[in-house]
Amino acid sequence: MSLPLPWPLIDVHTHMYLPRYVSLLRERRQVPYIARRGPNERLIILPDEEADGSISAGRPIGGEFYEVSRKLAFMDHHGIAISVVSSANPWIDFVEPAEAPAFAALLNQDLEAICQASAGRLYGFGVLPLQRPETCAAELKRIAGSRHMKGVIIGSAGRGHGLDDPGFEPIWQATAELDLFVFIHPHYGIGHQLFPDTGHALLLALGFPFETSIAVARLILRGALERHPALKLLIAHAGGTLPFLAGRLDSCVKNDISKDFGLPKPFSHYLRQCWFDAIAYHPPALAALTAFADPAKIMFGTDHPFFRPHVADEVLDRTTWPSAEENLAALSALDGAQQKAIAHANGLAAFGIELPQRLS
Ligand code: URA
Ligand code: ZN
Repeated sequence: MSLPLPWPLIDVHTHMYLPRYVSLLRERRQVPYIARRGPNERLIILPDEEADGSISAGRPIGGEFYEVSRKLAFMDHHGIAISVVSSANPWIDFVEPAEAPAFAALLNQDLEAICQASAGRLYGFGVLPLQRPETCAAELKRIAGSRHMKGVIIGSAGRGHGLDDPGFEPIWQATAELDLFVFIHPHYGIGHQLFPDTGHALLLALGFPFETSIAVARLILRGALERHPALKLLIAHAGGTLPFLAGRLDSCVKNDISKDFGLPKPFSHYLRQCWFDAIAYHPPALAALTAFADPAKIMFGTDHPFFRPHVADEVLDRTTWPSAEENLAALSALDGAQQKAIAHANGLAAFGIELPQRLS
């Protein structure tokens, strides 16, 4: 990687589709699903992708999405000591409500087993059956009892009504009590009808961060962090747009003559309670994040295996991924102490983990 750092990296935003989940997607014929196109497979997960029946629909999917050995190869190539791995979007959003609790439990057990076998290289965020919120506290208890699980990943859309869905209150309460992280991550994107024929580019670059921003803003405005100050939210993609917009949010909330949100503190006070990955891609965006957030709550991430480099499969594991490199290079404008905190120390401290012996 272009910015050699003297400390091994801790990657807190990195995904895997668990083999059990991949089997399910291979059986399906509607979004989300895995389609066979000749000798290759393609992953069709995003809204509207199904409309495109051509070979370009979706994206190529190979073992880098679901094989543990490929995750470890990526980590070794990029100097990553530990990854806190999460299932990728759209998680189990599409599963029938009656089946979701049992499927979530199986996926969480699978991930714990993978982490347990990794000799200290892998930890995990589980999934929740959001379509049955009344079952989530029990699943969270099981997750909290799994040594390598550090929290859960939740889609920004919740079960379709946003994260300020009153049905989610027991989830916030249980995660706060059990000291688990809630990693908030987008999937559906905002406004994709506004940018037709732009491939994945604008949905991922604009739709994703705005989806996250709106979800977290609604959660804060409805008082979730006021009611649950111990709630540990990790916000994807450098907080979407929120660190940049926090001042505007403070002003708009305070000066809204049509609504009193009843919050004793400014919007940004609650936002500053949150953790953020450093997936900012360039120094100006990272500067907004470091200027805003608690310096102990910003942590390196790669978003692997998304944003695959344009190379042949045979050389993929020996290739430096531009998205990982860009997020590391974005740290170059920071001083050494900030670099060490974000790349290494904050992740270890946040999750209470230590480097595996042979890497320390
Ligand atoms: N594209 C996705 O679908 N998910 C990610 O996490 C990143 C890119
Ligand atoms: Zn991601």
